Amino acid sequence: MCGIVGAVAQRDVAEILIEGLRRLEYRGYDSAGVAIVNGEGQLHRLRELGKVQALADALAAQPLSGGTGIAHTRWATHGEPSQRNAHPHVSDDIVVVHNGIIENYERLRSEMQAKGYHFSSDTDTEVIAHLVHYHRQHTDSLLSAVQATLKALRGAYGTVVMDARDPELLVVARSGSPLVIGLGVGENFIASDQLALLPVTRRFLYLEEGDVAEVTRREVRVFDAQGVSVERSELQSDVMHDAGDKGEYRHHMLKEIHQQPKAITDTLEGRLTDSGVVVEAFGNSARGIFEKVEHIQLIACGTSYHAGMVARYWFEALAGVACDIDIASEFRYRKSVMRPNSLIITLSQSGETADTLAALRLAKELGFMSSLAICNVASSSLVRESELAFMTRAGAEIGVASTKAFTTQLAALLMLVMAMGRCRNTMSAETELELLQALRALPGHLAETLGLADQIEMLAEDFVEKQHSLFLGRGEQYPIAMEGALKLKEISYIHAEAYAAGELKHGPLALIDAEMPIIVIAPDNDLLEKLKSNIEEVRARGGILYVFADRAADFNSAANMQVLPVPHVPAAIAPIVYTLPLQLLSYYVALIKGTDVDQPRNLAKSVTVE
Ligand code: AGP
Repeated sequence: MCGIVGAVAQRDVAEILIEGLRRLEYRGYDSAGVAIVNGEGQLHRLRELGKVQALADALAAQPLSGGTGIAHTRWATHGEPSQRNAHPHVSDDIVVVHNGIIENYERLRSEMQAKGYHFSSDTDTEVIAHLVHYHRQHTDSLLSAVQATLKALRGAYGTVVMDARDPELLVVARSGSPLVIGLGVGENFIASDQLALLPVTRRFLYLEEGDVAEVTRREVRVFDAQGVSVERSELQSDVMHDAGDKGEYRHHMLKEIHQQPKAITDTLEGRLTDSGVVVEAFGNSARGIFEKVEHIQLIACGTSYHAGMVARYWFEALAGVACDIDIASEFRYRKSVMRPNSLIITLSQSGETADTLAALRLAKELGFMSSLAICNVASSSLVRESELAFMTRAGAEIGVASTKAFTTQLAALLMLVMAMGRCRNTMSAETELELLQALRALPGHLAETLGLADQIEMLAEDFVEKQHSLFLGRGEQYPIAMEGALKLKEISYIHAEAYAAGELKHGPLALIDAEMPIIVIAPDNDLLEKLKSNIEEVRARGGILYVFADRAADFNSAANMQVLPVPHVPAAIAPIVYTLPLQLLSYYVALIKGTDVDQPRNLAKSVTVE
């Protein structure tokens, strides 16, 4: 989704801004722009449709120099992707970049037009520029003009404002869209994601909801939503400087698929004992809360939602605790009935997904007993706003298609199921030990499963000309089928649907013909015989099957059915292991089709708007 980078320094900042934008490219965008003010107050702006490289080329042809600047990658919400809709937007000397959505922009636009302002874009953002310009005439500082503007805005924003008449100052504001201030020596920076600033600093201030800040070369002054001056503590980033590099891999996604054994090892590290899970890993007050839990409400979007769906099977079967799951955008607008002692658990790689955050805030208003975030970004809003938090340690995930974030979420959730079973006395010591052993063995199983890559690359050829595909699974493999289908559609643009295999005869069997590849997830578990019957239903109708099956189960390739043997693993961790072949399949299909694997069209890595 949109990215922001800003800098106020003594040196020329153009290169810093462009490098920052490059590091945010993974978030998804359709246009990019930069505006720079020099010491004499001269303002220059460049905007390009398409990649950051196009902007860099334009800058090379027409260099901009100056020590204060803001830059942006735009992911269109209001107005088509185009140069005129790209940020920064200007109103005379006022320059603005903005992430989020201004919901009342139409009314504000009419009001500003009535005051004589001319709009040159279709965006919601341009109203901010004109409003700040208007208030700047009637206030004594840019800060006051921004504060007056914010009072009129409804919706979500992370915004940075620059005034060419005050060339060593940036004013930033956040509400519903993250912003971080990077602290340098005699220079300061702003970004929507710390990753953008790692080449220039590792020291950060995280703005809180409603904060507004004045950023100059030497000083950062933060004010809360009431305008009261506040201190925000400085944090040192532990994200590696090279986190955004592809290394030896052709794509971030491939690198991230192969990082999974290590990411899971890191996520387990220090959280397992000889007999179970360290309950306090979920927070100091976790034990007392888990002992009381009678119901779990899981909330997430996309891939994270699929992780939650798997966990629902686990919570009920292994820890005996009632569990519901909702897509965040549904939960926030439906009237749910509150259960006694219900724990809300949000799942998110980024911790900034707008719908998930809104659902958490609603849950707090509704009076849920407590909240737990399972997240990959420690400094995220979701973590900061939850009572308990458990960090997955996947490392920075750059590919838009979530891979290692998903499997580390699953490992975290399985640990949570164990902790919950232990605290509620609903899991036998024997089951706990089995799960413990399975988790310890998981990285090794994943590494072995990655050995299927060559076979899957060959298999991918069969899918390239296909328009549609069907993924089938049963039990906790049904959400894995959904995840496999999501991966294939998001990066290869092949329509993919997932079904619980028992549902086939209730409709989707009508779709089966030789043009519809059917991917089946077949671990060796209690439902295997049932699944085999479903496979026969498909074969009898001429369907072409690709079966990822436990190599110890009795499956053989036959006419119209190719079997790919997956290592034999304990049933509890099978959803994690079977995810990998599906990730690889979608990757190789996309690779052959030549789509943009890491930045698929229309998608964003972190969905910070509703
Ligand atoms: C999947 O590959 C996508 N990246 C997407 O579905 C993602 O999982 C979803 O947008 C939720 O993001 P989050 O985990 O950061 O909240």
